[in-house]
Amino acid sequence: MSAIVSINNLHKSFGANKVLNGVSLDVQKGQMVAIIGRSGSGKSTLLRCLNGLERIDSGDINVCGHDIHHPDKLNLRELRKQVGIVFQSYNLFPHVTVERNITLALTTIKKLSSAEAKKIAHNVLTLVGLEAKKDAYPEQLSGGQQQRVAIARSLAMAPELMLFDEVTSALDPELTGEVLKVMEDLSRQGMTMVLVTHEMAFARKLADILVFMHQGKVWEVGPPDELFTHPKTAELAKFVSSDL
Ligand SMILES: Nc1ncnc2c1ncn2[C@@H]1O[C@H](COP(=O)(O)OP(=O)(O)O)[C@@H](O)[C@H]1O
Ligand SMILES: [Mg+2]
Repeated sequence: MSAIVSINNLHKSFGANKVLNGVSLDVQKGQMVAIIGRSGSGKSTLLRCLNGLERIDSGDINVCGHDIHHPDKLNLRELRKQVGIVFQSYNLFPHVTVERNITLALTTIKKLSSAEAKKIAHNVLTLVGLEAKKDAYPEQLSGGQQQRVAIARSLAMAPELMLFDEVTSALDPELTGEVLKVMEDLSRQGMTMVLVTHEMAFARKLADILVFMHQGKVWEVGPPDELFTHPKTAELAKFVSSDL
């Protein structure tokens, strides 16, 4: 196996607030790594560091061959082509169709022809089960469908790594299921992914590695079943029992 993400002793503060306090973590190609932890423990900040949305204070991060800790040498454009990120809010462009939401970056950033871009849109929409909705506008879709379009839009760039930050948190339970299903399919097809999630059952069943973050640190890390059944720290034990 080869590491697609390698984080070593990452520190990041916002003013006096130490948000990441020496995080080290590796993600191997094809793995699903799920990050859990209380609000404010630094999960989102960690994900944002991985595609260069945050400048780090110290430590080494290599993502898909890019050294994030050398901002002067970092090719952000290339990094972001290789690393897709999906947030809780889907941020689709409201005034264009589902298909155009997906083809926009392909024709403008990747300079593909309209025909090539539409072919890719067809493929990724099929993957998330929404090919029939290509001519719809975002507001005509449910929240779950919009989130699946957001995932498809990210996949259209052919990323090597996908980051998901609580992508189901704004959704009703029945819509959550359809989005998790898309993520499960993606993982089965070999996509490397790091997700922050509250979906404990999903993380436990599907993640290769579970990471419990607490106070800006990787507090515990390992196979999900082990962490759930034998938490080593009182903090994880408490988190797991309050969450299930
Ligand atoms: N852009 C920012 N500016 C200042 N403080 C921030 C910023 N982003 C996050 N923080 C702070 O960093 C801490 C961790 O936040 P976050 O990474 O969002 O945690 P989590 O995702 O685990 O809830 C919080 O105290 C939050 O207020
Ligand atoms: Mg967060």
